[in-house]
Amino acid sequence: MDSFDVAVIGAGAAGQFCAARAGQQGLSVVLVDHAMTLGEKIRISGGGRCNFTNLHGADERRYLSRDPRFARHALRAFRPEDFLDLVRAHRIGYHEKHRGQLFCDEGSGDILGLLAAECAQGRVALRHPVTGLSIRPPAEGPAASSASSARRRWRVTGDRLDVAARAVVIATGGPSIPAIGGSDFAWGFARDLGLATVGARPGLVPLTCAPAWRERFTGLAGVSLPVRIGLARSANPAEAGGKAAAGRAPTFDEDLLFTHRGLSGPAVLQISSYRDQGQDLVIDLCPDQDLAARLAAEATTGTVGRVLGDCLPRRLVTALLAEGPDPGLRPVELGRARTAALVDSVRRLVVSPSGSEGLKKAEVTCGGVATSELEPRTLEVRRWPGLHVIGEAVDVTGWLGGYNFQWAWSSAAAAAAGLAGRLGGPAS
Ligand code: FDA
Repeated sequence: MDSFDVAVIGAGAAGQFCAARAGQQGLSVVLVDHAMTLGEKIRISGGGRCNFTNLHGADERRYLSRDPRFARHALRAFRPEDFLDLVRAHRIGYHEKHRGQLFCDEGSGDILGLLAAECAQGRVALRHPVTGLSIRPPAEGPAASSASSARRRWRVTGDRLDVAARAVVIATGGPSIPAIGGSDFAWGFARDLGLATVGARPGLVPLTCAPAWRERFTGLAGVSLPVRIGLARSANPAEAGGKAAAGRAPTFDEDLLFTHRGLSGPAVLQISSYRDQGQDLVIDLCPDQDLAARLAAEATTGTVGRVLGDCLPRRLVTALLAEGPDPGLRPVELGRARTAALVDSVRRLVVSPSGSEGLKKAEVTCGGVATSELEPRTLEVRRWPGLHVIGEAVDVTGWLGGYNFQWAWSSAAAAAAGLAGRLGGPAS
């Protein structure tokens, strides 16, 4: 059996960063993963260029959690600028694409290289692929005080792995995209220890629509346009009560994409994380123009079809006007009530998704180990000193745009600082 100060379980973004920083602070660290190829979510992220942080990433309002204030301690202790310093130190070229989103110039392999180099500098021992992983808590059980934890040992075993560690960090992410290693290990492990969890739900995910709706918008797959998107009041007050604790859903000004099965694009991915089952979307298809004023200005000179066509993609106009009014009508011929109804159908299009593409296609998993179980400054489990949970496995989910990696870096740095502070020097 090998002995380490820290065993980090899961070698994704959060796990590698935590292992590296703990190692660099003098702790002996083993990093364990069940995957053959490490960092697959990093590799495919940002379309292959890894949107590795966001300049606004320290703002906790851009993260969902049952406790909206939980994330701010870690996010402020290790900020986007701190990760950016590291990116610059590794001479990685980057650029800002949209609203503070930072991407690699070359590719996500640069961030994988950064993490590997940082782990090497921290002398991290890497073990993978390890199947049949099992983590046994110290025989003493949950402890009331961390002072009594100096001699406590966790036992981590698996295929060709037998390790004793003074502390364990769970960084196994969430079950989204299981094809590349995503798993709900953290949820099961936490429940076995008697810890509260928030159920795993797909986040940042395309939404599907019922066949009748798809029929109306048939032929629009591939059409994309800038919209403002929000949510109607929840159809199910009980569910809304749960999520309302995570804060009222904001509106997003982003691009919408029609797909063969429903709706996608950044606007829909963003709002999907906030949506309760059965809740309608409210979409302003023309957020930057005053459609009513344009119809009035061209009341006798234009046609309904042309005015709409100046504001929206042609194919969308055809779909919207399929059930009337006639696109050749002069706006003045519509009358006040039908003009108001037309403007409303564009500025407040209500869509009732039938579901989502699920965890198989979700960019993140919402939910995780409940934040009420964790110390916000160190991500240590209150009832189990020496156990930390970081990254996507925690009930903190970021917006689209680099926020989820920033949470991985910040939570990892917080846990590493906590470990170094508590375990201090080498293992006794
Ligand atoms: P992560 O999933 O990275 O790592 C978990 C690790 O644990 C994996 O290596 C896995 O193999 C391992 N593991 C799981 N179960 C295990 C078990 N039972 N035993 C051992 N090991 C186990 N975010 C962002 O900010 N910017 C972006 O551009 C993108 N783009 C993007 C694209 C796509 C397609 C996806 C799917 C996701 C993104 N994301 C993103 C989200 C981002 O990738 C994600 O939030 C982070 O990778 C989470 O980091 P973690 O380290 O917590 O989990």
